[in-house]
Amino acid sequence: MKIALIGYGKMGHEIARIAIDRGHSIVATIDVDNQDTFDAPEFLSADVAIEFTRPETAFGNYQKCFERHLPVVSGTTGWTNRLDEVKKLCVEQRQTFFYASNFSIGVNIFFELNKILAKMMNREPQYDVRMEEIHHIHKLDSPSGTGITLAEGILENIDRKQQWKEATVSENPADLLIESKRVGEVPGIHEIIYESDADVISIKHDAKNRKGFALGAVLAAEYLQGKTGFHTMQDLLNSKHN
Ligand SMILES: NC(=O)c1ccc[n+]([C@@H]2O[C@H](COP(=O)([O-])OP(=O)(O)OC[C@H]3O[C@@H](n4cnc5c(N)ncnc54)[C@H](O)[C@@H]3O)[C@@H](O)[C@H]2O)c1
Repeated sequence: MKIALIGYGKMGHEIARIAIDRGHSIVATIDVDNQDTFDAPEFLSADVAIEFTRPETAFGNYQKCFERHLPVVSGTTGWTNRLDEVKKLCVEQRQTFFYASNFSIGVNIFFELNKILAKMMNREPQYDVRMEEIHHIHKLDSPSGTGITLAEGILENIDRKQQWKEATVSENPADLLIESKRVGEVPGIHEIIYESDADVISIKHDAKNRKGFALGAVLAAEYLQGKTGFHTMQDLLNSKHN
């Protein structure tokens, strides 16, 4: 597969390494200083673009790919207030887009575990639930996209929680509290903590490095071949497990 990388930062570099290991070629890398490459023949020759940039630039990058009818895999977080617009473009213009707030297979298993535990805890009101997420100090969005996905998994399943709130205390017991910490170079830790007067149960995912995210993005690009429409990690995992 010929891959164009949009955003050649920490994730872009890791994705390039893994894609080459898996036999793909990187035909173009676009960053802030070479935006004219969107019109270069090497970019136009790509089968798929993998986009990891910044919250405020992601949507514009998707539009540029869609204008060229290029399928996009994106992991940029913090832009999903425009998710419905992207889904609409996938239907109306038959564009191809794969989004995951977290491409790690381990985290996606953790998402499922989180929902199962939340369903059980819906029947156990003696437990209060909160979340803690820790990332490196360069991270721009807070809480993390992964933290928001986890929060949604809890809110869908626990009736006594109504909305998430980034705080350590709240007067409203219906708030699901998320504490976001930014420490050193931590790739990403998410912990869901259930606490009663008697005990504490927690589930935790701790990324050791960025390899899991980068591999997932390359697997997503491979999965998209020959497809159109909007796809997520759930589709990718279902295709593996069926
Ligand atoms: N979904 C996931 O699994 C996952 C995993 C890790 C990081 N992320 C997200 O991916 C994004 C990038 O993370 P990172 O750690 O690589 O950040 P980074 O800061 O190391 O890299 C981002 C790169 O994008 C470039 N860039 C900015 N604007 C651009 C534009 N308009 N066009 C092209 N390039 C542009 C920057 O110059 C930089 O090189 C963040 O939003 C982060 O939260 C997602």
